[in-house]
Amino acid sequence: MKKLVVGNWKMYGNSAMAKALAASVARKSGDFPEAGVVLCPPHVLLAQVGQWLAGAKAALGAQDCHSETEGAFTGDVSASMLKEAGCSYVIVGHSERRSAYCETDEMVRKKAKKAIKSGLCPIICVGETLEERVQGKAEEVVGRQVRGSIPDAAKATGDQKSNFVLAYEPVWAIGSGKIPTMDDIAQMHTYIVSVASKCVGCAPEVVAVLYGGSVKAANARDIMSVRGVAGVLVGGASLKEDEFCSIIAAVK
Ligand code: 13P
Repeated sequence: MKKLVVGNWKMYGNSAMAKALAASVARKSGDFPEAGVVLCPPHVLLAQVGQWLAGAKAALGAQDCHSETEGAFTGDVSASMLKEAGCSYVIVGHSERRSAYCETDEMVRKKAKKAIKSGLCPIICVGETLEERVQGKAEEVVGRQVRGSIPDAAKATGDQKSNFVLAYEPVWAIGSGKIPTMDDIAQMHTYIVSVASKCVGCAPEVVAVLYGGSVKAANARDIMSVRGVAGVLVGGASLKEDEFCSIIAAVK
């Protein structure tokens, strides 16, 4: 399976920065065909970034979608709108949305379902807080999130890849410069793959679980070498051209 390198820009960026970054990423992704690269800029930059990536081996993703097809939901965008804007992926259930917008597993599951039905691959995020880890509840919490957030529409058959991706992002590792030990990452990824494959009824090897939380050029190679890590979901470091391109190069 190709390693996936996903850049989540969060609420950062502008047109000039996006143009420079997309051009670099378009070049770099051509040099590293063993990486699947995805850029997830803020919604208003999607169309432009899509144009700048045109013809390149990098895909476009969004950071969230609504669970309904359309309606009176001021400020929201639907999965089909994102598809039309050129997206192939959409992040759902990011911890920042789970905490700041009180998104529950049920809401995340509905968003992921709508994404799949609209032809997008949802990147379903899960992860424990520091308190939950200290209390020894990391697996319990993450297991519950995985079971609760994967929709019925999720599937993978035989040796084909699945129509969804999971991302393990320990909340305490996001933007903190702290990461779990490689053993802890391996253990959690193995656990997530086993829970998800049972949920979906598919072979464990087709379930892709990305790691996210303080990924940078200096640790990306080690993290992506860990058993069960299908790629990385990068926040802060995805806004820096050189740093993000080095992370893409780390797939080798
Ligand atoms: P950082 O890479 O900035 O820690 O953010 C991770 C993240 O939240 C990606 O979705």
